[in-house]
Amino acid sequence: MIDYVEKIPTPEEFNFLYESVGWGRIDKNIIDIALTNTLYSLCAYNKDKIIGYGRIIGDKSMFVHIQDIMVIPEFQNQKIGTEIINKIIDRIKDYKVVNPNLRAYIGPSKGVENFYKRFGFITRKDAGLGEGMILDI
Ligand SMILES: CC(C)(COP(=O)(O)OP(=O)(O)OC[C@H]1O[C@@H](n2cnc3c(N)ncnc32)[C@H](O)[C@@H]1OP(=O)(O)O)[C@@H](O)C(=O)NCCC(=O)NCCS
Repeated sequence: MIDYVEKIPTPEEFNFLYESVGWGRIDKNIIDIALTNTLYSLCAYNKDKIIGYGRIIGDKSMFVHIQDIMVIPEFQNQKIGTEIINKIIDRIKDYKVVNPNLRAYIGPSKGVENFYKRFGFITRKDAGLGEGMILDI
């Protein structure tokens, strides 16, 4: 059974997930700042071991960004990612009560776009917007 818990993971848990999905390790101080400034943080546990994660960052009223959706390989394809996204979408719906025009973004990893399309995410192009960009300095 998987437990979904709204909490900030420890830096060790975060790095465990990050490494498991092949993204490397992040400095503890950077994780501390990032997670402390997170609007909504959701951990998935199998017994006492973290096996999945997702979070929302942003201003809660005009723009939010979904980040760090991770399920460790041994637990992938068991609908845990789906559960995490659905809970995140529920939270975003709460924010939308204040501003129905709130925009929720995600920057999918290459090859993961179709996973997000299942939930109603569309590309910026299909929304009539310009391409997403990253500041490269
Ligand atoms: C992407 C990820 C979060 C999906 O989580 P998951 O728990 O494995 O996914 P689910 O079991 O909920 O999958 C639901 C459906 O989406 C499909 N799916 C899963 N990953 C997919 C992908 N990368 N592309 C397209 N479809 C995908 C599944 O096959 C499943 O289809 P089905 O309902 O027809 O059986 C997980 O694979 C992961 O952590 N990947 C590595 C990290 C990563 O890339 N995260 C995304 C960063 S933007």
